[in-house]
Amino acid sequence: MKIGRWLIAGAVVAVVLWKADDIIGTDKQQSAAPPAATETAVAPPAESAVSSDAGNDAGESASPTPTDSAETEAPTGDAEASDTPSATPSTTPEAPASTPDASDEADNSNGSESLDALLQLNAPDKTVKVGKNGIATVTNSDSMLVLVNKKRELSSTYAPDDLVKPNVAFSFSGDSPKQKMRKTAAKALEQLFAGAKEDGITLKAVSGYRSYATQKSIFTRNADLKGEEVANRTSARPGQSEHQTGLAMDVSSASANYELEPKFGDTKEGKWLAAHCAEYGFIIRFLEGQEDVTGYSYEPWHVRYVGKEAAKQVMKEGVTLEAYLEAATKA
Ligand code: DAL
Ligand code: ZN
Repeated sequence: MKIGRWLIAGAVVAVVLWKADDIIGTDKQQSAAPPAATETAVAPPAESAVSSDAGNDAGESASPTPTDSAETEAPTGDAEASDTPSATPSTTPEAPASTPDASDEADNSNGSESLDALLQLNAPDKTVKVGKNGIATVTNSDSMLVLVNKKRELSSTYAPDDLVKPNVAFSFSGDSPKQKMRKTAAKALEQLFAGAKEDGITLKAVSGYRSYATQKSIFTRNADLKGEEVANRTSARPGQSEHQTGLAMDVSSASANYELEPKFGDTKEGKWLAAHCAEYGFIIRFLEGQEDVTGYSYEPWHVRYVGKEAAKQVMKEGVTLEAYLEAATKA
C-alpha cells in the first residue's frame, strides 16, 4: 500500500519536472500553455553613479569600468534560467524562420535579386501573428531582417541558438552574456571595429545580447526610477528589444566615457560609426527625429545588423528600418 503511494508520488514529480523543463527552456517554439507568473525577483541594483542614461541600454553587469555608469543592474546569478516571464506569451506557435536559410542571408551577398526575395519574405505584414491575448508576435525571429518594436514582439521564450562573443574590445571587464551576438553579426562587428581602427577610431562594445528575462529586469528598474512612460522612450519592454535578437550592439568610446548618451553622436567615433556602419552590415537603428516611427529617442550608439546590402540602402536613404521594410515590400 505504502509502496503504491510512493510510486504514484514519484510519477507525479517526474511529470512536473518534465513540464518545468519545457517552460524554462530556450526552445524557439513557444509553449502552448502560458507560464505561471512566478517571476524571480531581481534585487534592486546598488545604484552608485547613475548617469542620465541609467541603463537605458544597460545589460547585466560584469565588472564595470569606473566610467561605465550605464551598467547598473545587480547581478542576478542565473537569471536566464530562473526567470519565468510574467507576460503571457502568444499562443501562436512561431513559424520557421521566414527564409529558406536565415543564417545565410547575412550579407545579402547574392545581389539585389536575392535581397528583394528576402525582403518579401520578411514583409512586416507577413511576419506577425496576433495571439488571443492581443499581443503581436513576430514569426521571423531568426531572420537578419526581423523587425522588432513596440508593436511587434519576440516571444518570451525566444533566444538565438548561435550566440558567440565577438573578438572586440568591451567597455567592461569580465564575462557576460551581453558580450554576445549571433555569429554572423559578431563577425561583422569584428570587421567594423577593425575598420574603425584602421581609420584611427577606437570603439568599445557596451551591450549586446539580452535575454527576455534580462530585458525585463532592466525595464523594471528603469520604470521604477523614471516611471514607465519616460523609461519606455529609451528602454524597451521585455520582448520588444532588438537586443533579444542577438543582432544589436551598443557601442561607445572613451570620448563619451563609454556612456550610452546622444552626445556619442557628436564624437568623432560616433560620426565614424554612422558614416561607416553600413559597409559592415549595420544600421543606426534609432534615428534622430524619428521617434514617432521607431518609438524610441535618438540612440547613435545602438547598431543593428541587417546585412550589407540592406544596411547600405537604409543608411543611404536615411530611413528607419520600419519605413525601409514597409516601402521595400509594398513596391
Ligand atoms: N534602448 C533600446 C530601445 C532597447 O532597450 O532595446
Ligand atoms: Zn541598444
